[in-house]
Amino acid sequence: MINKLKSKDLIGTKDLSLEEILLILDTAESMKEISSRDIKKVPALRGKTIINLFYESSTRTRTSFEIAGKRLSADVVNISVSTSSVVKGETLKDTAKNLEAMNPDAVVIRHSSSGAPDFISKILRCSVINAGDGAHEHPTQALLDLFTIREKLVLRGAKELKGLKVSIIGDITHSRVARSNIYAMNKMGMDVTVSGPSTLIPVDIEKMGVKVFTDVKKAIEGADVIIMLRIQLERQEKGLFPSIREYSRLFGLNTEKLKNAKEDVIIMHPGPMNRGVEISADVADGQYSLILDQVTNGVAVRMAILHLLTGGT
Ligand code: CP
Repeated sequence: MINKLKSKDLIGTKDLSLEEILLILDTAESMKEISSRDIKKVPALRGKTIINLFYESSTRTRTSFEIAGKRLSADVVNISVSTSSVVKGETLKDTAKNLEAMNPDAVVIRHSSSGAPDFISKILRCSVINAGDGAHEHPTQALLDLFTIREKLVLRGAKELKGLKVSIIGDITHSRVARSNIYAMNKMGMDVTVSGPSTLIPVDIEKMGVKVFTDVKKAIEGADVIIMLRIQLERQEKGLFPSIREYSRLFGLNTEKLKNAKEDVIIMHPGPMNRGVEISADVADGQYSLILDQVTNGVAVRMAILHLLTGGT
């Protein structure tokens, strides 16, 4: 059993070992207990500074990193790129080096370019955490998804996630959430299927160790977990699917399609959702949905990651 992560950074689940994933999930369990207290604060990261550097919009990830840092008593600074010197043309490298000159312990970065977190991790001494980069990875989302699945299954008496059937449905090609989940779930021994329009499924994705079903009903049948992905509406303008209505009819999850699912299926979505497009409102808010549990658990998982990477007490 290990007690620390081997890298100073978290760039992707591709780089994590099974032991490291389990360490993060186990640490997040203790962190979740802190959030259930009346006084939701411990001194573990007192004196540490965390910078949230978001070049793309975010509700869940940015807020939960901020809450996670504050619950561990770190000082958390949010940089709004729209009011920073980035709008004056400052490069990512210069921005990162200038932030480092103020001695932070971690920089949490979201960027539209794949590889941006990896790039700054190589020029900064502090920890760099990928909060989503282009279509590359969103490792903390995958880890909170795993935590949420594990938490639910442990309540049902399961011991491990090995062999569990997961279907990820939607725009697989452009999804950093899908990629991070596939890497992490394969390491956990889970059985991953992807489904969606063939124009939104990468050629050769089977090489990542997943099955492909273009018929969503087949992907739903027998799945223990269904993860619906947000359809990025701008993809339609590029002709990657005919219309929102047709996408919803063929690939959206609704009560009718759910009739093909297992009785105790778990439904997840990383958010933000297009209600009525990839998921109907009644399914999103229904008895099988763990969508808000994912958000709750995002705080615990990010607390665990900040704690493990910045060497808190
Ligand atoms: N799941 C997710 O990354 O949500 P945000 O874009 O709101 O952070």
